[in-house]
Amino acid sequence: MKYPNDIMSKVLYTEDQIILKAKELAERINADYDGKPLTIVCTLKGATFFFADLMKYININCNIEFIKASSYVGNTTMTIGNVQISNVMNFVIENRDILIVEDIVDTGLTCDKLFEYFRKHNCASVNVCTLLDKPSRRQVGIIPKYCGYEIEDEFVIGYGLDYNESYRNIPCVGIINKKYI
Ligand code: IMP
Repeated sequence: MKYPNDIMSKVLYTEDQIILKAKELAERINADYDGKPLTIVCTLKGATFFFADLMKYININCNIEFIKASSYVGNTTMTIGNVQISNVMNFVIENRDILIVEDIVDTGLTCDKLFEYFRKHNCASVNVCTLLDKPSRRQVGIIPKYCGYEIEDEFVIGYGLDYNESYRNIPCVGIINKKYI
């Protein structure tokens, strides 16, 4: 079954725009982390599309890892504060510069938990590169070092972002049509 044509009330960013933005951010990351012990950590599942774009333009030596950080439960558009992290045990953190790649920073609670975890395990540094940022929703003092676009307090889907596990494979980011929530 195809997604309805009006699933997005507004397209915010096209694939071409996102790819250009990923290139721009990758160039800054290349300059900032050249010669450093960098591990780039993709958060599953939402960041995977953006992560793949970004990594094509990263041209410095780095490791890549994947973790799962979940805060949403079921068909809701609200964050549940109880963030769960998995797969972080399987790679070296100590003395590594960690760059977390996120699809979106909303309340900031996921990043806050991840920062706490990586710092507790003696990373050299930890920062975040996010495609989208919703600063008006922030509950903690997280400021993404690298941010694609700041957006209003709207629920967005596409390019990895889901609503109840659907719509991740739409090749642009847009605001979900409220009639489907
Ligand atoms: P935070 O912990 O509130 O910052 O939320 C981070 C996670 O919530 C993101 O990685 C997304 O998976 C999810 N999220 C937050 N806002 C949206 C949205 O507008 N659309 C889809 N997922 C979202």
